[in-house]
Amino acid sequence: MKLAPSILSADFSQLAAEVERVTPEADLLHVDVMDGHFVPNLTIGPPVVKSLRPRTDLYLDCHLMVDNPGELLDDFAAAGADGITVHVELGDPRPLIARIRELGVRVGLTHNPDTPLDAVEPYLEEIDTLLFMSVFPGFGGQAFIPSVLEKVAEARRLVDERGLPVELEIDGGIGPATARQAVEAGADILVAGSAIFHADDPLAAARHLRAVATGADGAATASA
Ligand code: DX5
Ligand code: ZN
Repeated sequence: MKLAPSILSADFSQLAAEVERVTPEADLLHVDVMDGHFVPNLTIGPPVVKSLRPRTDLYLDCHLMVDNPGELLDDFAAAGADGITVHVELGDPRPLIARIRELGVRVGLTHNPDTPLDAVEPYLEEIDTLLFMSVFPGFGGQAFIPSVLEKVAEARRLVDERGLPVELEIDGGIGPATARQAVEAGADILVAGSAIFHADDPLAAARHLRAVATGADGAATASA
């Protein structure tokens, strides 16, 4: 599995230092973009990605929670995004998928906890990452919604049956109590914000999270 610390829970006044701190245990860096319309919260945009780009070699995984992603794709690509994820709730994502591809950026598609897998299934052949929201988007530190695991497991089956190279990513409420279940359901990438950046030692928290997620902490697994 891959671990993606979410900078939403980092100290923005020292973002580069926060990122550097967790880098030894990070496979990607998750960047939550919120516009105050699609979700009630307002966060960051392309200028922050641009500032971060020369300060890290990590893959910048930009999760767009905005009403108008189409107007921002070029700016995020120019700023140095490696992946851009858009929400299916906005309608047919094909024009967005096509533009993200044209920009040479990896394509992510996401869906809210109450959006059925059927809504994203038609696009599995066209995307690189399928993101499962395991909280309603907008804020860090919310409780994990366990019913999302059934969708992850179903998507795992579909992707494996079809031999698709789509990575399954899960976002929201991931911590030591939930990481193992997410991996067992079939998630490849775990996003974690508060579980990492709100810890006294974020690097140790990330290391612990990975150990729990992979079963390397010695915990019995449901399948064992
Ligand atoms: C929520 C964001 C998440 C958030 C997760 O809308 O998409 O990426 O950072 O935060 P935690 O890990 O604290 O639930
Ligand atoms: Zn996110």
